[in-house]
Amino acid sequence: MKATIASVRELMESIIIQGGKPLTGTVEISGAKNAALPLLAAAILADAPVIYHRIPHLKDITTMMTLIAHQGSEVTIDDQSRVHIDTRTATLPVAPYELVKTMRASSLVLGPLLARFGHANVSLPGGCAIGARPIDMHLKGLEAMGADIRVEHGNVEAVAANGLHGAHIVFDQVTVTGTENLMMAATIAKGQTILDNAAAEPEVVNLAHALRGLGANIVGEGTHKIVIEGVASLSGGEITVIPDRIEAATYLSAGLITGGDVTVTDCQPADLEAFLARVRATGATVETGDDWIRCAAPKRLKAVDISTMPHPGFPTDLQAQFMALMCLSDGSSTIRETIFENRFMHVQELARMGANIHLDGHVAVVHGTSSISGAEVMATDLRASASLVLAGLAAQGETHISRVYHIDRGYERIEEKMRKIGAHIERCTTRESSMPQVDRFHV
Ligand code: EPU
Repeated sequence: MKATIASVRELMESIIIQGGKPLTGTVEISGAKNAALPLLAAAILADAPVIYHRIPHLKDITTMMTLIAHQGSEVTIDDQSRVHIDTRTATLPVAPYELVKTMRASSLVLGPLLARFGHANVSLPGGCAIGARPIDMHLKGLEAMGADIRVEHGNVEAVAANGLHGAHIVFDQVTVTGTENLMMAATIAKGQTILDNAAAEPEVVNLAHALRGLGANIVGEGTHKIVIEGVASLSGGEITVIPDRIEAATYLSAGLITGGDVTVTDCQPADLEAFLARVRATGATVETGDDWIRCAAPKRLKAVDISTMPHPGFPTDLQAQFMALMCLSDGSSTIRETIFENRFMHVQELARMGANIHLDGHVAVVHGTSSISGAEVMATDLRASASLVLAGLAAQGETHISRVYHIDRGYERIEEKMRKIGAHIERCTTRESSMPQVDRFHV
């Protein structure tokens, strides 16, 4: 394994939690990172400015805005936190390695750039902590739509000399950003595109609605068959990002793991049905309204099995958090990860806190214990970090989580929101030495 030297500043930030206190109260949910990223890329297709509401303030979002600005577009934020993007000045259909290496979702600009400019050069994202994560299905789909694609020196060179045309694309496997990339490209391609075995995630639905608002002709979003009739151009308009279902479930889990009672507001309960069904099975009380969810913990959580699946199944982005809950449950549970091949990096860190987890390939068997203890642990990816925060909130004593820059990719103001429901949580920059640190999870 080749280790890299990460920036000293990033590596010095840690989160310290004094656990063992039931969390109660209300948390307002932010816009969804995974909806906002493709929505920002969609501005590349519009021939007038696009204004965004509820873009969350997150590191990955800043990366996407930097990427779009790098292409020559105007990106501004007004005094009401709305993001304005005008891509009419864009001249550079490129996504350089410096940006793509920090965020794989940068490849979401490939479809829009190719559709608009007829050519694009996007650096190939490498593997990441949770798996190999190739983009072969994105590339195969664009080829079927008339692109000539060469992958050389780590770059995707895509050319559609005569523009893109519609095609019938059947995904081998459900891919969220693959569906989004091709759906965007198809909006201004010639003719009809059918996306079969498409992703039905709420973020894909948000994108389809937004594109329709800009003049695209799309039907079938939210099902596994999306049909797009290409139009000559897309206009500008206003786009609102849906609430972050993963953030909402993470705060509800914070209440559940600490024996508390948490309500999340400004969310879409229907997006979390699979998660809430498993939470009900633990014996927790679950109540929902139009835009809020309340979960109150039972005396002790019952052990419940989960298997991650594409939407509407149990989301892989909540597997680590649910595992944290199961560490303290009464009984043993089986957690099966079917989407990513290596999304169990949190297991060893949870074990440092006294969790009893047996890992066998894609399956983790969690034997619940009545208590876990605070420890020094390391965040390895975004959702793994969230599971460590949850475990820290429930643990006896102090938990020290290093490498928390992973958390900042996807959780807006996490300490502030957790403190609002009673958590003892602080960010500190003091514990790490001033020596450069080797990040063992960057390969
Ligand atoms: N895959 C391929 N080839 C492809 C595309 C995907 O083999 O061309 C495989 C992946 O390696 C994986 C599976 O297909 O095994 C599904 O991956 P998918 O393409 O759906 O993942 P993604 O689009 O790269 C998005 C989210 C992830 C989330 C997954 C699954 C964004 C920006 N990212 O990734 O979010 O886990 O869908 O729901 O939307 C996170 O927020 O922490 C996160 C990782």
